Amino acid sequence: MQDHFKDRAKEWDAGSIRVKGAKTIADAIERQIRLTKDMEIMDFGVGTGLLGFEIAKHVKQVYGVDTSANMLEKLKAKNTTQLSIETYCQDIIKEPLIKTFDGMVSSMTLHHIENLKAFFATMYKNINKGGFIAIADLENEDGTFHSDNTGVYHFGFDNSELCKIAKDAGFQSVKFNNINTIYKPNREFGIFLLTATK
Ligand SMILES: C[S@@+](CC[C@H](N)C(=O)[O-])C[C@H]1O[C@@H](n2cnc3c(N)ncnc32)[C@H](O)[C@@H]1O
Repeated sequence: MQDHFKDRAKEWDAGSIRVKGAKTIADAIERQIRLTKDMEIMDFGVGTGLLGFEIAKHVKQVYGVDTSANMLEKLKAKNTTQLSIETYCQDIIKEPLIKTFDGMVSSMTLHHIENLKAFFATMYKNINKGGFIAIADLENEDGTFHSDNTGVYHFGFDNSELCKIAKDAGFQSVKFNNINTIYKPNREFGIFLLTATK
């Protein structure tokens, strides 16, 4: 699988919009989901851990899944004895993980996933009964969010279409809420958080 983030890893954490955005997503997740110290949580598309380390403060362990070895190298350099994320460098949609989790969080990764049905089916298998998913990404946009759309399979997401795919995969109590706006020079981009339970 091609790694579109190979060269972006070095500068990823220097992007203040990204860092602030991940913190806003973490705050929204903490408001909507009761995170507890006995939970094992997957961060899908964990990248350098901008969301994962925020979540790790409130749970037993975060496991970061990503297909970019370079992004995960940056993450691992931030691990400490007090706060760390265990990593899996693989495409778990194609090479399934045996482990299951109490919940899954994900930030700004869904638009890089071509087959949404396969993605939600994978999450359903990897989440324990009673567990949750919390996915943040772009609301519908016109293709101008990224300066280069290589590796971008969706120009944001429509509320009812995405909720239907999650429900069809078996998830319940599916909710889709706007949680942030990213301001770029010529356009504003809405960020949603989809939450659901198994
Ligand atoms: C826009 S970045 C977001 C990173 C991080 N969640 C954040 O908010 O800073 C998208 C991440 O998804 C990863 N990714 C893309 N396709 C993936 C896949 N099929 N499975 C797992 N990770 C993937 C990329 O390598 C990249 O690290």
